[in-house]
Amino acid sequence: MVSGLIGFTYSIYNVAVAAVSIERLQKILCLKNAEPYLIQGEDPDLVVVMKNATLSWVRPDKETESMADKEISTFSQLEVKPTLKNISFTLLKGNLLGVCGNVGSGKTSLISAILEQMYLQDGSVVANGTFAYVAQQAWIFHGTIQENILMSEPFEQHRSHGLRRSYLLQFWKMERTFPVGERQLLCMARALLRNSKIILLDEATAAIDAETDALIQNTIKEAFQDCTVLTIAHRINTILNSDRVLVMDQGQMAELDRPDVLQQRPDSIFSSLVEAANASGS
Ligand SMILES: Nc1ncnc2c1ncn2[C@@H]1O[C@H](COP(=O)(O)OP(=O)(O)OP(=O)(O)O)[C@@H](O)[C@H]1O
Ligand SMILES: [Mg+2]
Repeated sequence: MVSGLIGFTYSIYNVAVAAVSIERLQKILCLKNAEPYLIQGEDPDLVVVMKNATLSWVRPDKETESMADKEISTFSQLEVKPTLKNISFTLLKGNLLGVCGNVGSGKTSLISAILEQMYLQDGSVVANGTFAYVAQQAWIFHGTIQENILMSEPFEQHRSHGLRRSYLLQFWKMERTFPVGERQLLCMARALLRNSKIILLDEATAAIDAETDALIQNTIKEAFQDCTVLTIAHRINTILNSDRVLVMDQGQMAELDRPDVLQQRPDSIFSSLVEAANASGS
């Protein structure tokens, strides 16, 4: 009797959770795509150029047409304020830009702005080249490892990258639960084999051990010299070799310079982040 009652309560709880999930899904599905604002650059040496760019996650004008729009704008009213403010930097071809900053400082939003996922309120964003992106949340789909890496691109294209010999990957189904570190490695492989000119990495190695992380960073630096890389750092040490470091603070650029220059300034945020990382041994 008691177990029946518990089961009944649990069922009601599950129905309520499902109803909330469906409602959230509906809201997400009703969200409109951001309006296009990315300008195709003409100078191949200037890979990304942001000039006084101010961007929000929600369309700035509050004129809403339908009920669904009204609900969404109430739902996300807090995000109408610009998340990124007055961002100006140039990413040169072949350069490595390391991005760091506190939680919620706008690092992921910066990548989203380059991928044209936000709303541009002011300034401009110019990009020249194709992107490969490793998101902060590593995602895989049900299929073989090879399918997960190739993402429907022909196998032959990747012969030179060493996938040829690993034919077993065709049969190894993603049937077990993959730890986050392994999923991140897969996403990394997927992005690096895309042959894209611009690689955007959002804490792509956060769950990978420090030794493998260092190996990956060195590989990126040596084997992808033609690529332009923007790395959001989970471990500050991984961006010490970057050409430049951008420190974000509350949606604004706090510091942008060579890492050695920033480290020489004892009052810089970057110095304090490096010191904190060294003190914690990470
Ligand atoms: N997809 C999104 N839709 C709406 N708001 C978002 C979205 N992504 C981030 N934000 C908001 O933008 C602000 C900056 O968050 P962002 O994720 O860019 O910071 P972050 O520096 O990457 O933080 P973390 O270190 O936690 O990864 C936060 O207020 C966050 O709620
Ligand atoms: Mg982030």
